[in-house]
Amino acid sequence: MKNDVFLRACKREKVEYTPVWLMRQAGRYMSEYMEIRKNHSFLEMCKTPELATEVTLQPVNRVGVDAAILFADILLPLEGMGIDLEFAKGEGPVIHNPVRSEADVKKLRLIEPEQDVPYVLEAIKLVRKELDGRVPLIGFSGAPFTLASYMIEGGGSRNYLYCKQLMWQAPQLWHALMEKISKVIVSYLRAQAAAGAQALQVFDSWVGALSPADYAEYVLPHSKYVFEQLADLGVPVIHFANNASTLLELVREAGGDVIGVDWRIGLDEAWQRIGYDVAIQGNLDPVSLMAPPKVIEQKVKEILEQADNRPGHIFNLGHGINKETPVDNVIAMVEAVHKYSKRS
Ligand code: CP3
Repeated sequence: MKNDVFLRACKREKVEYTPVWLMRQAGRYMSEYMEIRKNHSFLEMCKTPELATEVTLQPVNRVGVDAAILFADILLPLEGMGIDLEFAKGEGPVIHNPVRSEADVKKLRLIEPEQDVPYVLEAIKLVRKELDGRVPLIGFSGAPFTLASYMIEGGGSRNYLYCKQLMWQAPQLWHALMEKISKVIVSYLRAQAAAGAQALQVFDSWVGALSPADYAEYVLPHSKYVFEQLADLGVPVIHFANNASTLLELVREAGGDVIGVDWRIGLDEAWQRIGYDVAIQGNLDPVSLMAPPKVIEQKVKEILEQADNRPGHIFNLGHGINKETPVDNVIAMVEAVHKYSKRS
């Protein structure tokens, strides 16, 4: 491995500089991506290992990040469970058969990754070959709550009405659904590691909609199960919970070698709250990449100062990059992280 700075930082080892990658680093802000996207739908790209590989490598080649993340989506394993998934133009994901009743939950299947998502495993093998040890490859999955929210709501949501209704009206059914989803996540992530993913990230993008008490009762046991079931793999696992400053201690309790934090809290305060015995990932506001490079540089320095040279910081955005972002600003951000974190 030529550049293993990211993997060493995940283990809180001393590194020469702070590694950086970006959530959603492969995507529409890059002209190289749009060039391919012109001729293929998003799902087609995910399901064609050669295309997924090419797009995975684009930010590694152009932006100089310290890790690659597989081009895929958190919703892909739901298809094998029996979910009818579509990415509608301009709307984001749509699920045509939302899960709302006991019969709906009963019908859901557990997946066999080799049969249900062979293209993901193929893409991982191909990316590893193409990367040839340049940087490590991260695999990923949605967390139980975030996947449940899509399945119940039938797509993205503002207030999670159906989701919370099911949670509170039919707690047993909620837990049964969360158990099924958690088993799927475990088999999906274990298969990714077996195929060659060198780190794994679990995205809890929408869990910030819950109170701490509801998180503790309805989510924590399931997320905890997922992290426990991955512990023997020997690959670092990142737990990213978005908009979750009020849940940080509970998120940490659920598990993960690295806790991903958003920008709504200072990195220094976040790290103090989760404890210095776990690594931390974050936490630049993705919209700050719309600012001039001088401002970006200043914001990068502030975050590095908050990390205070402790081992175990991986620089990232506080959430996914926006499609409007100028690619030159992204390059400037990555260069600033490397430059201002250099240790002698
Ligand atoms: O990080 C990477 O570069 C790897 C690729 C990746 C994608 N989705 C590609 C994608 C990853 C890690 C994801 C995860 C994902 N997918 C999450 C968790 C991360 C987060 O942002 O919180 C979520 C919530 C999803 C579900 C999803 N997929 C949504 C809400 C959308 C529409 C969003 C939008 O901006 O239109 C997608 C589509 C999607 N996933 C795109 C990409 C590049 C855009 C597809 C396109 O039209 O080209």
